[in-house]
Amino acid sequence: MITSCETEPVTPALQGVADIIPAPLKFSKKEGNFLLDENVQISLPNENAEWQLVANYLNDKIFDSTSKRLKIITSGNLEKDIIRIIQSDDVTQKEGYQLNINAYEIVVKAKTANGAFLGVQTLLQLMPSEIYSKNKTTNFRFNIPQVEINDAPRFSYRGMHLDVARHFFSVDDVKRYIDLMAMHKYNTFHWHLTEDQGWRIEIKKYPKLTEIGGFRNETLVGHYNDQPHQFDGKRYGGFYTQEQIKEVVKYASERFITVIPEIELPGHAQAAITAYPELGCTDNQLEVMTKWGVSNNVFCPTEETFTFLENVLLEVIELFPSEYIHIGGDECPKTHWKESAFCQKLMKENGLKDEMELQSYFIGRIEKFLNSKGKQIIGWDEILEGGLAPNASVMSWRGVQGGIDAATQGHDVIMSPTSHCYFDYYQSQHKDEPLAIGGYLPIEKVYSYQPIPDEVPADKVHHIKGVQCNLWTEYIPTARKLDYMTYPRACALAEVAWTAKSNRDFPDFVKRLNTHLLRLEAYGVNTAMNVFDIDGDLTSQDGQLMTTLKSNVANSTITYTLDGSTPTLQSNIYNNTFTINASSQLRAVGFINDKQRGRSFEKDINFHKATGKTISIKEQPEPRYSAGGIGAIINGINGSDERYGDKEWLGFEGKNMEAVIDMKEETEIRKVSFRFFKGEGQWIYLPKKVSVFVSNDGEKYTLAAESTDIATESKIANPTVEVNSKGKYIKVLVERFGKIPDGLQGGGHEAWLFVDEIIVE
Ligand code: ACM
Repeated sequence: MITSCETEPVTPALQGVADIIPAPLKFSKKEGNFLLDENVQISLPNENAEWQLVANYLNDKIFDSTSKRLKIITSGNLEKDIIRIIQSDDVTQKEGYQLNINAYEIVVKAKTANGAFLGVQTLLQLMPSEIYSKNKTTNFRFNIPQVEINDAPRFSYRGMHLDVARHFFSVDDVKRYIDLMAMHKYNTFHWHLTEDQGWRIEIKKYPKLTEIGGFRNETLVGHYNDQPHQFDGKRYGGFYTQEQIKEVVKYASERFITVIPEIELPGHAQAAITAYPELGCTDNQLEVMTKWGVSNNVFCPTEETFTFLENVLLEVIELFPSEYIHIGGDECPKTHWKESAFCQKLMKENGLKDEMELQSYFIGRIEKFLNSKGKQIIGWDEILEGGLAPNASVMSWRGVQGGIDAATQGHDVIMSPTSHCYFDYYQSQHKDEPLAIGGYLPIEKVYSYQPIPDEVPADKVHHIKGVQCNLWTEYIPTARKLDYMTYPRACALAEVAWTAKSNRDFPDFVKRLNTHLLRLEAYGVNTAMNVFDIDGDLTSQDGQLMTTLKSNVANSTITYTLDGSTPTLQSNIYNNTFTINASSQLRAVGFINDKQRGRSFEKDINFHKATGKTISIKEQPEPRYSAGGIGAIINGINGSDERYGDKEWLGFEGKNMEAVIDMKEETEIRKVSFRFFKGEGQWIYLPKKVSVFVSNDGEKYTLAAESTDIATESKIANPTVEVNSKGKYIKVLVERFGKIPDGLQGGGHEAWLFVDEIIVE
């Protein structure tokens, strides 16, 4: 007889799928499943609180999603229906674990409770994705695939940073951030608590730090580079009480995550100096900064300041059990120190040859104090500049050189270079991408990161302790946007941090990510889906555009239209490069298992007489601003009107642009127009003059038209010159702006020139 219990549907999603992120060291999947339901018990090796945490965490996830709990036992000898958590020295690494599942039992074996916790994280990923939801309604009857896993991390430091100063995040937001870290086997939360724009940690001895320093009068609206600056007129701020800090630290420790607090010094201190003006080098009454950027108001290295900082750090030490305290050290302008008679005298008395050495003196004193309290310091790579404090660890952010230098000098290093770890950068060049600070860091680039630079000597490689992603929040005002910027790039970096180098494979990661996104969705994460976006290249050749469409997903189907309509599964299927030879509105979409994933690729192509022809340029654009090749400026496609980082724009630094278009045959040329980008805050200026010459032999050119009428109020200038001539060759000369006037952003530097199209009609 079939009982009702046996006919009850098994929760369908992801049954039997074992797409684990980060990928384990050794993994094999067997036939068959283990049935996890409410009859199963969890057995622990002992009654230690740490091991209880592991079982409780698992039980809480089961309870949140199914409203059931499993019985937890520490003795007894069940043969079946058991999740056996075992302490064993067979596992040698602190964070290692083995996970073996057969039809009768799930065995999680580890040397430490920490290892067992990480094993449980893997086990959760073998369950239906609903395990990550809090809906309490999931049918608790899970088929767990039988696997054998032997796992351990590549790096001992796997960090995520969060700036809660530029924008404030609630205790609940921070806890959620930490729980998602645990899911991805990160083990260090770097909490950036103090800044020019806000002081966020209660210090009992100095209440004005949060009363005054915790709030700013208003906040910049839009991008810092959009000038003149505009503000929202709304008071903004917040801080964590010491009780709340303790709550977060406890929550993290229950997930075997260490919290490293960052108290920024000597720079990024304007909020503190606003609260206690005597800490600065000038008598100016400041305000908590209302816009982004780096303040010149930095701590003055007086005894009064050191006493203040030591008192602050004494309270910080009490709150954070971490061995490390991050003391910042980045971006400390020396302007006020140079102008301060006190600083100059102090430098003389201490034999410090410049302000860099004064900075090292500052950091050195703080290190000595913290070392005396049993703590170690970690700082951004600028702390190398005037000589490194004796025991300091370095976080390499401006690139990898700081990491190479520090490791070579025998200091521990965390790699966090802007190039691969700054998740405040754009992750897509799609036109609908929300505002970000700048840059471009797609997930495949994050995934490609190799944290150990070749330049580190073999006997120093062990100083590279790991990696960290940084979430600076100037342009991340909400938890939803924080999700979007963090995931899934943090999934990719988790694999950089955890997975053995030899097990890393981007196409395989994307396949697993496709499953993993269901988990993030169940958790309620506002995940960016651009890894599934369709991308494309349109290159000029023989008067046509060779069009190549691309997907990150090996088995996806791409369909496209040329009339601007939204592609469906019934539209043209893309198999191979095809040609476009007339004005079109290309739209392309990717499908995985017949479901659209990611955003469409959209290009409006306006064929003009030069489209598909050949162009040569005398002085090449900068490589990082010419990803689409020089043909991009005659391909009939406009770049973004908002940003200059996409494949259509060419960027020239301090150069004129002189280009020749080979029209193949004598051609009637009525007019030539241009598209230039203007972003004076970003050092991008319109040219002074454009000239057009024509020729029939490519040697003797005649000036046909020129113009200096280029100015615009918007970001895009679109000057046109009447040519009314014939020729086989067209030469354009675009004369750059020159040096940026002093007193403006980038004053004294050569301006950039950005061009995205030369339109010949
Ligand atoms: C930093 O991004 N200023 C460390």
